[in-house]
Amino acid sequence: ALAAPAMSRAQAWPTRPISWIVPFAAGGPTDALARDIADHTGRQLGQTILIDNAAGAGGTIGSTKAARAAPDGYTFLVGHMGYMGAAPALYKKLAYDPVKDFEPVLRMPDTPLVLLVSTRSPYGSAAELIAYAKQNPGKLNFGNAGVGSTSHLVAALFASRAGIRITQVAYKGAGPAMNDLIAGQVDAMFDQTNTALPQVGARLKAIGLTSEKEMSQFPGVPTLGATVLPGFETSTWFGLYAPRGTPKEIVSKMSDAYLKALEDKAWTQKMAAQGIRLLPTADASATALGQHTASEVERWKKVAAEAHISLD
Ligand code: MLT
Repeated sequence: ALAAPAMSRAQAWPTRPISWIVPFAAGGPTDALARDIADHTGRQLGQTILIDNAAGAGGTIGSTKAARAAPDGYTFLVGHMGYMGAAPALYKKLAYDPVKDFEPVLRMPDTPLVLLVSTRSPYGSAAELIAYAKQNPGKLNFGNAGVGSTSHLVAALFASRAGIRITQVAYKGAGPAMNDLIAGQVDAMFDQTNTALPQVGARLKAIGLTSEKEMSQFPGVPTLGATVLPGFETSTWFGLYAPRGTPKEIVSKMSDAYLKALEDKAWTQKMAAQGIRLLPTADASATALGQHTASEVERWKKVAAEAHISLD
């Protein structure tokens, strides 16, 4: 009898640990979300998913590394609105194209952001912070995770809409930026709810939300849209991407493992408790992520131009 056809590499996948590139330092919201999702997804695959923190330049260094990785199913990129949406509008010589150089795999949940100041700071509200900034242009330092990170983009949009000038201070991730906020080296920052929540209280004060509605996780904290900047709503979207050319069978196995992991309601409730916004399953598909990425790249060209956001 004919020997059974050798199993294709894609059919046998995964036969060894997988790497997910997180293009920020450990300890920030992208790193935290990625580790949690990698842990649950890896269990479904029966394989370890390792996080490779490749930081720098607002996430574009790690994204370039992912775009150039072998399309063999062992390297993926945890992407987000900054370096997979806004970056083409900000970086003239971007070494990758978020649409052409990647296979979308799955869309992860969104995270709204929180405007944070130290508990020692004199500002009790976003209105007070804006009033100070109007009298002292350029004096307020905002920490961010590099040009094109959402902490950078949201702070730039906030300043543009409020008509104030701020000074942006770049770090290798929101984790290191948060450390300097707590230490009083910078005055404020926008961080995502999952990593902001544990810090609010003793050391940090949340003075505004970028969500549409107030959040039970941040009692008494108003939304910026309802107080100082009507219509100012945003959250960071995330997605998993593979280098262009990764076999479709591997892409769908990874996506199926994630969707299976989401059936664990204890886990999804834990994410929701961190202010993370789970998406309807249809919006989490590879096709949906691909369409979302393309529309975001176009949208940010307009937003960046209107708000004069550039490589400052
Ligand atoms: C950002 O865009 O600010 C990043 O999410 C920061 C991070 O995750 O470290």
